[in-house]
Amino acid sequence: MKVSLRPLAEGDLGRLAAWRNDPRVHPFFFFDGRIDPERQGAWLDSVRRDETRRFFAVEADGDFAGTLSLDRIDRRHRSAELGNVLVDPDRQGAGIGRRAVELLLALAFESAGLDRVELRVFTDNAAAIRLYEACGFRREGVERGAVVRDDRRRDVLRMAILKGDR
Ligand SMILES: CC(C)(COP(=O)(O)OP(=O)(O)OC[C@H]1O[C@@H](n2cnc3c(N)ncnc32)[C@H](O)[C@@H]1OP(=O)(O)O)[C@@H](O)C(=O)NCCC(=O)NCCS
Repeated sequence: MKVSLRPLAEGDLGRLAAWRNDPRVHPFFFFDGRIDPERQGAWLDSVRRDETRRFFAVEADGDFAGTLSLDRIDRRHRSAELGNVLVDPDRQGAGIGRRAVELLLALAFESAGLDRVELRVFTDNAAAIRLYEACGFRREGVERGAVVRDDRRRDVLRMAILKGDR
């Protein structure tokens, strides 16, 4: 299977909203509201205007199969945050997420001039943490009760990878 990244496009927004609202995806994001498909166009415009963000569609054999993003791109410290890691719930467990994160790291370190990529993940999201560790991210600490989801305070694991770790 060939996995590739391209910029997110308007035509992706309907499926992206459906995935984000899917019970196999929705619990793992910090934002606990539902995605309103009507507002997606304005959201994509604002992402495109934001020089600190790059939002990607993941393709598997040419089909839209997931997303990920580089957020909080900081030129001074040559760092960014990996976010919006999501694989089509019908295609999870097939290696798409792993390949997509590897591609994003190659882009960050080899063409975007970054030296550090960090991320935040719920401490109980075992699948995602295993994926990030498989890609070389290391655990840097736990932010206790940092995020309120569904009226409950949740612990968040911070992870990061430096260019020199690879
Ligand atoms: C987490 C997620 C992106 C992984 O993508 P994926 O394409 O399903 O993962 P892959 O098939 O590439 O698997 C890569 C590694 O992830 C880990 N993994 C994936 N699914 C797993 C599961 N259900 N249980 C445990 N580990 C799992 C494994 O280490 C796996 O490698 P291995 O099979 O060699 O052990 C995907 O499951 C997803 O979209 N989850 C919901 C949203 C989410 O949690 N996003 C992350 C928010 S921080």
